[in-house]
Amino acid sequence: MTPNNPSQLPQDQQRIQFNTRLGAIATTVGSAIGLGNIWRFPYEAGTHGGGAFMLCYIGFIIILGIPVVVAEFMMGRGTGLNVFGAFRKLAPGTSWHYLGYVGILASLMILSFYSVVAGWTVEYCWQSAIGALDFETADEYHAHFDEFCSGNWRPLLWTWIFLALNFVILIRGVSKGIEKMSNILMPILFLLLIVFCINSLTLDKASEGLKFLFHPDFSQLSSKVMLGAMGQAFFSLSLGLGCMMTYASYFNDETRLVKSAFLTGGLDTMVAILAGVIIFPAVFTFGMSPAAGPTLVFEVLPSIFHSLPFGAAWSTLFFFLLFLASLTSTLSMSEISIKFFIQEKGMTRRGATCLNGAIALVFGSLCALSFGDLGSFTICGMTIFNLFDYVSSNILLPFGGMMIAIFVGWKMDRGLIRNELSNYGQHQVRGMGFLMFCIRFIAPVGILLVFLNSIGII
Ligand code: TRP
Repeated sequence: MTPNNPSQLPQDQQRIQFNTRLGAIATTVGSAIGLGNIWRFPYEAGTHGGGAFMLCYIGFIIILGIPVVVAEFMMGRGTGLNVFGAFRKLAPGTSWHYLGYVGILASLMILSFYSVVAGWTVEYCWQSAIGALDFETADEYHAHFDEFCSGNWRPLLWTWIFLALNFVILIRGVSKGIEKMSNILMPILFLLLIVFCINSLTLDKASEGLKFLFHPDFSQLSSKVMLGAMGQAFFSLSLGLGCMMTYASYFNDETRLVKSAFLTGGLDTMVAILAGVIIFPAVFTFGMSPAAGPTLVFEVLPSIFHSLPFGAAWSTLFFFLLFLASLTSTLSMSEISIKFFIQEKGMTRRGATCLNGAIALVFGSLCALSFGDLGSFTICGMTIFNLFDYVSSNILLPFGGMMIAIFVGWKMDRGLIRNELSNYGQHQVRGMGFLMFCIRFIAPVGILLVFLNSIGII
């Protein structure tokens, strides 16, 4: 299958393919695993009551997330194009491709606030290395983070440095090197998580933490919890704005889409659960509040590291790996708008990367200041940082996912779907009927119900 003849396209637009099946999976997993799992999941679970959130989250990953991943994979590999191009090629002469704008908007919003948090990881990596994170009590860690954030300049500077790094990698197109490096280092992050997990399980109030995370208290189940869990499922799987689609456009004919979707979903969820098992026992043992919000992980993790022998070394290594995991995620989300600017607006890679970087710089700065001088500037009761996070994750991503599911389920050519699922007849597809049922009915209706529920209609 060669939807495009690569040699006929200008160099900036050529279709590149991952060389190995492992490379394709590793890069996709690299996009999915990031701050969403280790920073966002624990804080969302903490503010939404723990167990009830967790239950909804896992349910949504299975019934909404994985089918939409497969849908994005089919559109991406089937066309070899960006979000816009894919919709236009599959449904020429319709308005479907305008959905691409939702994807671009959401990806830029996410890039903006994500870079701020990635900046925090760099600061914490640095502070660990120089031994500055050496406090005794939870309150001291809280005060320390507060002081850092409200200082304005340091968070701003780290956001800029992170964005500059993202920019340099994107413009040079050396992401292959980064991806290779992350393919080696990510398993180390995984091992570290397991070590910290075991350590957390030995803490005094481990059982309280585990109960908070795994024991659903159904009285906590509300429309807010469901919307939050759905948003988290989409955010964590990099879904709903064409990120998985863009990456799947680099898959070769050998990649099995359904298997890859399960693998991505499984590994991603596992990392999130590991992060939860690390954080919550510590939260209860050190007497912190699980509902601390976006700053939670940056207050809890240093306390855990402090209690370990060679704490500063663990901490430096961990924040460095987390920074790298964020980088593989921001590279993937930047690629969405960059590919759009190149393929649809005829820009050069350099121009497209500059535009992407400039937008992220402006909005990223506003997000960074949301914890400092702009903290009192709120829209609908949310700071700019929280607003960007809420609107993109809880509204735009599920909306995009719903439209993708409707498109693939009802509009996309069945022959192409069968070919994509069977790799052009190379193997049998089992359960295609069930998968298509999920994509046609369960995913769109499920997302719609959560939306309607959250605005109080049902
Ligand atoms: N999934 C990533 C994480 O968990 C974040 C991410 C990367 C993302 N690309 C995305 C989120 C595209 C939404 C859309 O950290």
